[in-house]
Amino acid sequence: DYQSASEIVIFGALGDLSRRKLLPALYQLEVCGLINEQSRIVGVARQEHTPKEFEAIVLENLQAFVKEALDEAVLTRFLARLVYQQLDFKNEQAYVNLANTLASGNKTRVYYFSTPPAIYGDICAGLNEAQLISDSDRVVMEKPIGHSLESSKVVNDKVAKYFKEQQTYRIDHYLGKETVLNLLVLRFANSLFTNNWDRNSIDHVQITVAESVGIEGRWGFYDEAGQMRDMVQNHLLQILSLLAMEPPADLSAQSVRDEKLKAVKALRPINKENIKEKTVRGQYSDGFLNGAPVPGYLNEEGANKDSTTETFVAIKAEIDNWRWKGVPFYLRTGKRMPAKHSEIVVHFKQQPHNIFKDSYSDLPANKLTIRLQPDEGVELQMMNKIPGIASQMHIQENKLDLSFSQTYKNERVIDAYERLMLEVLNGNQSLFVSRDEVEAAWTWADSIIDAWQSTNEAPKPYPAGSWGPVSSIALIARDDRQWVE
Ligand code: BG6
Repeated sequence: DYQSASEIVIFGALGDLSRRKLLPALYQLEVCGLINEQSRIVGVARQEHTPKEFEAIVLENLQAFVKEALDEAVLTRFLARLVYQQLDFKNEQAYVNLANTLASGNKTRVYYFSTPPAIYGDICAGLNEAQLISDSDRVVMEKPIGHSLESSKVVNDKVAKYFKEQQTYRIDHYLGKETVLNLLVLRFANSLFTNNWDRNSIDHVQITVAESVGIEGRWGFYDEAGQMRDMVQNHLLQILSLLAMEPPADLSAQSVRDEKLKAVKALRPINKENIKEKTVRGQYSDGFLNGAPVPGYLNEEGANKDSTTETFVAIKAEIDNWRWKGVPFYLRTGKRMPAKHSEIVVHFKQQPHNIFKDSYSDLPANKLTIRLQPDEGVELQMMNKIPGIASQMHIQENKLDLSFSQTYKNERVIDAYERLMLEVLNGNQSLFVSRDEVEAAWTWADSIIDAWQSTNEAPKPYPAGSWGPVSSIALIARDDRQWVE
């Protein structure tokens, strides 16, 4: 049992993330017996609550957000771990109360910052003042880590004043998704792919992260960020780096993170000169989803009617290194698209010569589709002979389909936060984003955002419920390719 006993301290314990994700994730770890017996969960928030009230709030949220029926015995164990601490995050003196609460025993303190990043600095200063930081403690940070390279440095510096990089766990919840983790296995446990994963075999790659939801009442936050900062700078670049990186020497945090970093650093900069040819910015207008009318971005509740924030981005990304020279990675992501649908499609090169011309004039290339969510799975498009006696061979494109829900029928679908929470408790940083990665990702994203600002063009409208502006089709069609629908 290598997991030490911890005080799991959640700042913002009554907030949305904690209620929907963190507490249910911890409950699931309890179900699996993966939390050290001595560990406690310390909820910290501004409001006054008695321990009983806090317990009732937690219970209510577990009932709402844990999909399975709650197990009485597990629940009893879980609730017994709970402690509540009222705290005014900005009042340094108040942290003495937290120190009193945490006084028992010699445990690893895991501080989970589930609060707006603007107060990370205050929390760190308060913890420091109350002598609540030692080298064995850990800090977990949620995105957004800044709004740009410069502001990310401010956030990271504030925390780095008190916690070393080895103690800092930056969450990108996509790294906790089973299908994203599976990219490592797919690439490095299958020689078929390991040996064909480069410019000699691959024509191009498409990464789509589509969501049908709009901004879900988060107007203020989202309008400041936009899809580039909210999704591309982090989730899409994490997927891209796992797909593009060189094989890491092993699965250690350092090996994996170093290789991902190199891939992001090798991204060709997009700037004023090539912005129009390489990117498309869109914003959804009024439209329909599943037959029902939905308002456009500017008609959402609380909207600023003049907003030019993008809710859709398409990018032709290129990686300047030996492996990927000449292999574009087309990225697209947006809100209010027809469905929640995230997938990677790796297009292999066409056969150089076709001996089946009589039945198939233009042999399609093999395609590997990695379905990230929903309907998780991997499928390989390939050519096959249609059985039959005809002397002319009839061939057809068909697929090998590994559907996870079919293959692993009895496995529960694990939420990303369960995995990430477990890795924090176990002290393994491989699935967390290093500061260098955050900065390399911002450097690339900032250049695109700056170029957009300098062109001063409004985002292209697309009706809610569509696959984005027509210019995103043109972006890929210019290269004689098309998005897989
Ligand atoms: C979050 C973004 O990081 O990821 C949201 O802030 C987005 O805007 C969400 O909706 C998507 O996550 P998932 O797991 O539903 O794909």
